[in-house]
Amino acid sequence: MNYANMSENELKNLKAELLKEYEEYKALSLKLDMSRGKPGAEQLNLSADMLKCVLTPEECCSENGVDCRNYGVLDGIPECKRLFADVLEVSPANIIVGGASSLNLMYDYLNQCMFLGVGGCEPWSKQGKVKFICNVPGYDRHFAITEFFGVEMISVEMQKDGPDVEKIAELVRDPMVKGMFCVPKYSNPDGVTYSDEKVRALAALKPAAKDFRVIWDNAYVIHDLTDDPDKLLNIFEACREYGTEDYFVEFTSTSKITFPGAGVSAIAASDKNIAEIKKRLNFQTISYDKLNQLRHAKYLKNIDGLRAHMKKHAAVIAPKFKIVLDTLEREIAPASIGEWGKAKGGYFISYNTTVGSAKRVGELCKEAGLVLTTVGATYPYGKDPDDKNIRIAPTYPSDSELSKAMELFCLCAKLAAVEALL
Ligand SMILES: Cc1ncc(COP(=O)(O)O)c(C=O)c1O
Repeated sequence: MNYANMSENELKNLKAELLKEYEEYKALSLKLDMSRGKPGAEQLNLSADMLKCVLTPEECCSENGVDCRNYGVLDGIPECKRLFADVLEVSPANIIVGGASSLNLMYDYLNQCMFLGVGGCEPWSKQGKVKFICNVPGYDRHFAITEFFGVEMISVEMQKDGPDVEKIAELVRDPMVKGMFCVPKYSNPDGVTYSDEKVRALAALKPAAKDFRVIWDNAYVIHDLTDDPDKLLNIFEACREYGTEDYFVEFTSTSKITFPGAGVSAIAASDKNIAEIKKRLNFQTISYDKLNQLRHAKYLKNIDGLRAHMKKHAAVIAPKFKIVLDTLEREIAPASIGEWGKAKGGYFISYNTTVGSAKRVGELCKEAGLVLTTVGATYPYGKDPDDKNIRIAPTYPSDSELSKAMELFCLCAKLAAVEALL
């Protein structure tokens, strides 16, 4: 029954019932975790054979004869560059293959912006108080990097098909607004893929800052869960029409394809940006881990191999997304106390409580042994102004743990909603 239509007495009775159920859960001393977007062991096992791809000295050579056990080839071996080029739909010449973490590459790029400057402009750190647009809700680690560099964050609310581009177009008239983070496919946490219109509008931006940079974090580029996956317009193709390729630097990794923390990352960018980044990379490292690049290229082979591999991931995690969505539909929809996204890929489901209840849901869950992503973390400075967004990460727990966790989550959401109404 819709809670908003209940009388005070009905709500009081409901609260007593929910509390009784909640105490029963507490007595079970549960230890459940839906906090981080980590693959479960079954997913990690899907790539176990990759570790057998490069064993003998003969197997350590790249296709152009480079011994991957040794120094050299700063921007990546050709077969790995090609793999990322196919995924990101760019030329291999516009790819740099990095180490195990794309986040590390993003951090480093912002570091370059701050202290070296980009595109021939003064370093941001010398230009005064620079600002970044943050599409919210968003990824906590993006906000953490931005905050770490002392960049002021301006929140712009996400819409059903991507960021509020009109608001963004207004904001970028300020030359101190230097860029933004975007997760254009299956965004973290909303699971939204930007529509073609949004991508084109972003490509058409006319920022006042010549050194404006969008960190196009395509972490979930190939992480589809259904047979009718979302299709994202290629940002560099969209930019061609407006001559804005230099404003976008794209990042991705195999963290959620093979092994998080032991995968391979990549940058895709315009000729100018690639040249600038490569020049600076020379001072940072002699070369990244080419043996790992080789393992990935040999194991995943090409875009078709990669797609086939991702289907195996989908077979493991699509049922988990279904558990979350079915439980919400069954428990929350009739009460009309929350809204949630129905992501067709990626790693998250974003849940919105009625205004002002998310922290309370988090507290109740914690007390009963269920860890959620810290409530508020999906907003800059950890502050959700409406206290309503909660990120649900369904991949790590087993199906039975997840079912239990979701039942408890819904119970806590109901209890918090009743408390707010009384
Ligand atoms: C949007 C997004 N970008 C980047 C990362 C981390 O990527 P990596 O493991 O390549 O550093 C994550 C991990 O959850 C993510 O959700």
